[in-house]
Amino acid sequence: MRAKLWNLARLAGPGIFLEVGSFRGGTALHICNAIANRGATFYCFDPLEKGGFENLGAQDTCSKPGDFTDTQHEAVVKLLSSRPNAKVIQGYFPAAAEDLKLHDIEFCHLDVDVYEATKKSLEYLAPRLAPRGFIVLDDMGRLETPGVNKAVAEFLLVIRPFFLFRCSQSRASFCRSRFGEEKFRGLFLKTVPLDLRKISLTAQRGGPH
Ligand SMILES: C[S@@+](CC[C@H](N)C(=O)[O-])C[C@H]1O[C@@H](n2cnc3c(N)ncnc32)[C@H](O)[C@@H]1O
Repeated sequence: MRAKLWNLARLAGPGIFLEVGSFRGGTALHICNAIANRGATFYCFDPLEKGGFENLGAQDTCSKPGDFTDTQHEAVVKLLSSRPNAKVIQGYFPAAAEDLKLHDIEFCHLDVDVYEATKKSLEYLAPRLAPRGFIVLDDMGRLETPGVNKAVAEFLLVIRPFFLFRCSQSRASFCRSRFGEEKFRGLFLKTVPLDLRKISLTAQRGGPH
């Protein structure tokens, strides 16, 4: 699945790239490698050792407050240190992005597992995406992350027009317009916008990342 994330990152930009939810920096490094030499600025956001999840809702049944604290800011900074233009921001998104005044975001890998963080992140990102920017969302449709499905369903009902494209059993992309259909062809299981009513039906237990 990382190969798909690599390909998706290479479709975007140049411009501002984000990752929200980086834990030990594995996918952050992968994205940095995919966009090397492309003049992109990359920010990754995570509370790291100070964090885990800020708030858990009733639907976040598989997550615990202290999950994902077994990581270190210093270690992630070191991991990305040879990537020019990569910045590690320690804190909860979107509050941690406030001072950065981000806009025209070309790409965001959103991987925060739970309802509130997914919903707040989507609401923050939607008006700040570049015209052809897009969000790659992890954990869509997994039974272990029902909060992500709920956040997506609510987001799509309120914020239009946004199209959702399924790119694997557990990953989806959002973009503003149907141009994405062309852009993403070949990288997705389905190149048609996902029917909201089918989100829960497509859930897969432990689907591949
Ligand atoms: C599944 S892990 C990310 C894994 C990482 N993307 C990878 O594949 O290497 C989810 C991460 O989201 C972080 N997280 C949860 N809520 C967040 C928020 N509001 N802002 C930033 N990170 C958050 C957690 O602390 C955790 O490290």
